[in-house]
Amino acid sequence: MNKKTKLSGIGSEFHWSGLPEGPFLPWPIPHLFLALGRDAVCALWGMKKNKFSRGVLFVPDYFCPDVCKFWKDSGIKIRRYEDDPRWPHPNWHTLTPARGDCVLAVNYFGVRDGSVWKDWLKGNPRISLVEDHSHDPFSSWAKNSIADFCFASIRKIFPVPDGAILWSPRRHPMPPELENRDCSGSALKLAGMILKKEYGDTKGTSLLLKDTFRKFQVEGEKLLSESKGLNISPWSRYLLLNGIPQSWRIQRKKNVRLLLELLQENADFRPLFLDWPLGHCPFNVILVFKTNRYREIFRSRLISKAVFTPIHWKIDSGKGTHVFDLSSRILTIPVDHRYSSSDLYFIADNIKEISDGI
Ligand SMILES: Cc1ncc(COP(=O)(O)O)c(C=O)c1O
Repeated sequence: MNKKTKLSGIGSEFHWSGLPEGPFLPWPIPHLFLALGRDAVCALWGMKKNKFSRGVLFVPDYFCPDVCKFWKDSGIKIRRYEDDPRWPHPNWHTLTPARGDCVLAVNYFGVRDGSVWKDWLKGNPRISLVEDHSHDPFSSWAKNSIADFCFASIRKIFPVPDGAILWSPRRHPMPPELENRDCSGSALKLAGMILKKEYGDTKGTSLLLKDTFRKFQVEGEKLLSESKGLNISPWSRYLLLNGIPQSWRIQRKKNVRLLLELLQENADFRPLFLDWPLGHCPFNVILVFKTNRYREIFRSRLISKAVFTPIHWKIDSGKGTHVFDLSSRILTIPVDHRYSSSDLYFIADNIKEISDGI
């Protein structure tokens, strides 16, 4: 049993981890870097010679509510269709775009098979398709996409304070570089990353240091999410230039496999998925608990062990009962490249201990 708690915790925001080392998985060419994934959609809507800005954007009902609100507030007309990471494909009956509309497809947690969307597009050639590959920008779906545009929020998988990418598999003209070059949000987040590294290196002895890096992270995120049309910061552009280190994606996939193996059968929860399409790398291990109460017990006890588990996503408005059901029971266990097998044993032991103690 590994009972050692990692001082800077498991999960939560990235710390500064130095310059990325190759070999790298390169980005699609051409591409546009932006600060945030959500701005990719706004950049498409803002293009003068783009048919998108005239139509409606169909967004799955299971999706990040803050991002959806951002698009609405930016003047994009939104309609929802039913989709759920537990299903192999959306409820097609609820997806009813007209000519000139655009559909957003999401590769939930990097494990969806994109062939269902390829088939859909063949039957709906007049509808524009934009795909969100934030959870695995290098999946075989993303690499072989036939969508009009694809985007990914890179800052969720790469230790950069800001960063997202947009590309067009169909080789449509790309939007121009975004004009807002205010880097204050990114600067605060970068400072937060550096101080978080110091906090870990100094064995978490200074509470002031902890409060300070948390404050920088929160204030930085607020500034970023309140901005509009934000270009990528020069430092994130530099860090992302060559692509993602291959070893990070390999480590993430290995970690997902190991934790799924270690968790085995448990009556309190089920993993959302146990396998995935060839050439995909899951975002993290995703658990679905039997009730909301169980999810909350596990979540709070894991926090007390400094294991920080986000919820993708907290959704409390809208129509779909399947959405509330999943949102109230889902939990993401972070297993990215920062973690080695001993961290995963630590997480698995703690989950087992919580389960035994309920
Ligand atoms: C799947 C997915 N797509 C897009 C976004 C938006 O990314 P950003 O926060 O960089 O705008 C998020 C953010 O949570 C996300 O989880």
